[in-house]
Amino acid sequence: MQIGILTVSDRGARGDYEDRSGPILADIVQNRTPWQVSQRAIVPDEMETITNTLIAWCDAGVSLILTSGGTGFSPRDVTPEATKTVIERETPGIAEALRAESLKITRHAMLSRAVAGIRGQTLIINMPGNPKAVRENMEVLLPILPHALELLTEAPHSESHHRQV
Ligand code: MTE
Repeated sequence: MQIGILTVSDRGARGDYEDRSGPILADIVQNRTPWQVSQRAIVPDEMETITNTLIAWCDAGVSLILTSGGTGFSPRDVTPEATKTVIERETPGIAEALRAESLKITRHAMLSRAVAGIRGQTLIINMPGNPKAVRENMEVLLPILPHALELLTEAPHSESHHRQV
């Protein structure tokens, strides 16, 4: 299973600011899942760049793309809009769970417009840019990711589709 980690940040992409969230995500994937980080990038808050990167990674067969940053209210924050143009099916339960759990930690969680959804056999999940937020979101996601990715990559009409879980 291949994982992509996309940091969305104007300052990060310019090199004005060291990306801390991307390395945290890579570290969590490498140390706490059986999967490999196959794609990493830092891109500016530009619709087209974000969209093109997401599509290219989906086409390359990445099973899960974790994005960090660009989910807030600033005029440059467009990660959710870019993600929505790429996904075919929204997975609102993931975004709802991340916000609900995050709200227990900070009221500022309601300022994240993060979305999640599926394109083909790729699950894309937005997270805020804050390294602390990324850690907190991953604690919510780690327990459900194996089953989510298993369902996403299973062959149509396979036995397990009808299994009760
Ligand atoms: N979620 C968690 N779990 N922890 C946080 O510290 N920060 C919030 C929110 N979600 C936060 C969080 C803040 S302050 C903002 S502005 C929004 O995410 C959007 O962040 P972004 O613009 O970096 O994507």
